[in-house]
Amino acid sequence: RGQYRAYHQKVIDHYQNPRNVGTMDKNDLSVGTGLVGAPACGDVMRLQIKVNDDTGIIEDVKFKTFGCGSAIASSSFATELLKGKSLDDALKIKNTVIAKELSLPPVKLHCSMLAEDAIKSAVKDYRIKKGKKTPTLGPDA
Ligand code: FES
Ligand code: FES
Repeated sequence: RGQYRAYHQKVIDHYQNPRNVGTMDKNDLSVGTGLVGAPACGDVMRLQIKVNDDTGIIEDVKFKTFGCGSAIASSSFATELLKGKSLDDALKIKNTVIAKELSLPPVKLHCSMLAEDAIKSAVKDYRIKKGKKTPTLGPDA
């Protein structure tokens, strides 16, 4: 029961008051843009990171998610996790961490996966822009 209420409170809070919703200029060379979709449900998530080119630290994050409440909550929570992180640490963010924090039920796990994919996609985009070598990101990156 407590679990159930916790699930509602956290997801609903991030859903009703999503953090860092917005758009950054995708042509800005310091901005990495990740755009991913979930084939299962058709939901789409765009996540953008603004990176300090000298320190490699993520200084700002914005997202726009066209999808279910869990996907919106997952991306909102992801933006909070990302701020102040290095790119390598950003790549270590697993969807399981997001799913656990928001207490997502199994049927909603792919919503948090969308957030993990969006992070990888944004980092990759930034690194391509910078002409840096992209590390191995896994099969679905
Ligand atoms: Fe309906 Fe994701 S399946 S919004
Ligand atoms: Fe598909 Fe949430 S992203 S239902």
